[in-house]
Amino acid sequence: MNELKAYLQQQSRLFDQYLEQYYSFPENNPQGPVEILGESMAYSLFAGGKRLRPILAMSACRLFGGTLELVLPVAVAIEMIHTYSLIHDDLPAMDDDNFRRGLPTNHKVYGEGMAILAGDALLTDAFGHLAAVDGLSEETRLALVRGLSQAAGSEGMVAGQAIDLHYEGRLDVSREILFDLHRRKTGAMITFAVLAGGMVAGADKEDLARLETYGQSIGLAFQIADDVLDETGTQTELGKDAGSDREKNKLTSVSLLGLDESRSLLEELVNKAVIVLEPYGKRAARLQQIANYIAVRKN
Ligand code: IPE
Ligand code: IPE
Ligand code: MG
Ligand code: MG
Ligand code: MG
Repeated sequence: MNELKAYLQQQSRLFDQYLEQYYSFPENNPQGPVEILGESMAYSLFAGGKRLRPILAMSACRLFGGTLELVLPVAVAIEMIHTYSLIHDDLPAMDDDNFRRGLPTNHKVYGEGMAILAGDALLTDAFGHLAAVDGLSEETRLALVRGLSQAAGSEGMVAGQAIDLHYEGRLDVSREILFDLHRRKTGAMITFAVLAGGMVAGADKEDLARLETYGQSIGLAFQIADDVLDETGTQTELGKDAGSDREKNKLTSVSLLGLDESRSLLEELVNKAVIVLEPYGKRAARLQQIANYIAVRKN
């Protein structure tokens, strides 16, 4: 586990170094609205965060012999979309939270209007960055743009957020609805991150199908763990509000299934993710360790 922690730290540092170079903001007039917008984007983007989606893309890419150079710009686009989703998720009209990534939420610092715009800009710029990535074939670039749009958009993450809001305060709901919510709001972007790593490295159809099963399993597991942590963790551990789901009567794994069943489901999903990568032997060890980490993480 310590060895994995060191790996995660090192990969997230590599990603951050690249992000700092790649994503620069105008600094001419710190008081101007365009500069404040840039600062507000950077505030959330550089606030830390586990960088799990970039690390998944990087690790999947490595499994199929791809280089960091190819995957890092794609990972940036994914993390920009993820960061936008967090800024909007925290807004008063959504989860109305105060802390994120160990800091006050974006709207607490920059105001709601600017937070909405910072999210909009991160979302829009992400596609611009992805479309301009060097070194990939036109076909791969287009497939990535399309895949990211599907994972993030009206059938993926945003649809999940719509389901999340719709079922606030309701428990007369089937498991299918709960898992559909998880798969869309969280699973879709995590699955895409894993697949993107494989696509960049030129993984074949069979490989991508295995990566997809892995991504779907850990994606669902990730949200179950997030729900458990919301109930059992502290704000200091999580770097974000704890107990927020209970307070807002959210439909979560904990509210519908309870802690025990959530935990055993988590274990099942992690096992499934580990098993599907067995054909790759030791080469898949990192991705398998990350699957295990998702279930035991404390933040
Ligand atoms: C939080 O994602 C939102 C969910 C999808 C549950 P992370 O837990 O990956 O947040 P960061 O990126 O580490 O801040
Ligand atoms: C949000 O799920 C998933 C997103 C698409 C951002 P949550 O609302 O549970 O995420 P946290 O707990 O605020 O990070
Ligand atoms: Mg939410
Ligand atoms: Mg939230
Ligand atoms: Mg949560």
